Amino acid sequence: MTDHQTILGLETSCDETAAAVVRADGRVLADVVASQIDLHARYGGVVPELASRAHLRAIVPVVEEAVERVGGWDAIDAVAVTQGPGLVGALLVGVQFAKALAWARDRPLIGVDHLQGHLLACHLRHDDEAPVGPGYPYVALLVSGGHTALYRVDEPTGNTLLGQTRDDAAGEAFDKAAKLLGLGYPGGPIIDRLAKEGDAAAFDLPRPMLHRKDHDFSFSGLKTAVARIVADDEGVSRPDLAASLQGAIVEVLARKAVRCCLEEDVPRLVLGGGVAANRGLRQRAGELCAEAGLELFVPPIRSCTDNAAMIAYAGFHADGDEPVAVYSRAPNRVRGRFREDGTHIPRRAGR
Ligand code: KG4
Ligand code: ZN
Repeated sequence: MTDHQTILGLETSCDETAAAVVRADGRVLADVVASQIDLHARYGGVVPELASRAHLRAIVPVVEEAVERVGGWDAIDAVAVTQGPGLVGALLVGVQFAKALAWARDRPLIGVDHLQGHLLACHLRHDDEAPVGPGYPYVALLVSGGHTALYRVDEPTGNTLLGQTRDDAAGEAFDKAAKLLGLGYPGGPIIDRLAKEGDAAAFDLPRPMLHRKDHDFSFSGLKTAVARIVADDEGVSRPDLAASLQGAIVEVLARKAVRCCLEEDVPRLVLGGGVAANRGLRQRAGELCAEAGLELFVPPIRSCTDNAAMIAYAGFHADGDEPVAVYSRAPNRVRGRFREDGTHIPRRAGR
């Protein structure tokens, strides 16, 4: 933990240009997000080169607004920035800008891992009345357009990757299915809305990896299943297919997350990432957690989707002495924990 009081965070890893100022206790003092969704919508996905250019246009006003909201630079002790994983061109805009800011304002610069931000986002509080975040340890189900993974989080700096998707992320499955159905982008919120009007039992879609003992996921088969149904019958009921698809994705996510908590003997589950907005997922996770006697913590949506407040907060717990350099993928995709020298720490015996 650093001894800073407030950190300005910058996030440009994908299609959101964001800046936020956060206090060490998680209280968010400013939170500005410029979304590029409209820019990418017509292509049905994020176009990396367009994202970089849009970040370049947005970064100055977004940061200025965040700094203005806290009354100027006197209220900011350090600058934290997402250095990866993400789109390299997009990341570079944030990192280079943060380097320049830190140098010009004579503040320390802290590189933050985007996933670490998501894992700690549940501790952010946007106002004094907001409930305090979950205690440690917790299992985090991180579900976004780029990631689907289960982590055990023991402390702000200590987490263990327990399982992850072997192919598409859950958000990607929603987005790709929506594209096949001609529904628009991003598909998650559209399918979520349509699913309410449909019958989830209309199509018997697979529940990939549900009965495997590991904590991994796989969603690309579902996309293929949807493609086949649409190829067979162009006029298929969109609401029914949306409801069936959402039912399949949500059942696998919620069941495997709850199983993970029980196996790890961790009493609480935290949702994070854009797919945590899904009403079906929230409901099913709520039901299964209640049955299993687990606490479920669902942060407000603005904390779940990409934002800079989580990056600022993770900055308090990051190693500020490391050089800041961008990376497109997590440096180490091997499951488990690592010592400071990068060597793998084996899991405890008996598991
Ligand atoms: O975390 P996020 O904003 O960005 C990253 O991918 O990092 O997540 C975006 C993803 C998209 O795939 C979008 O379709 C999905 O989250 N999403 C949803 C819902 N809202 C957003 N998926 C299902 N149901 C939703 N209500
Ligand atoms: Zn993200």
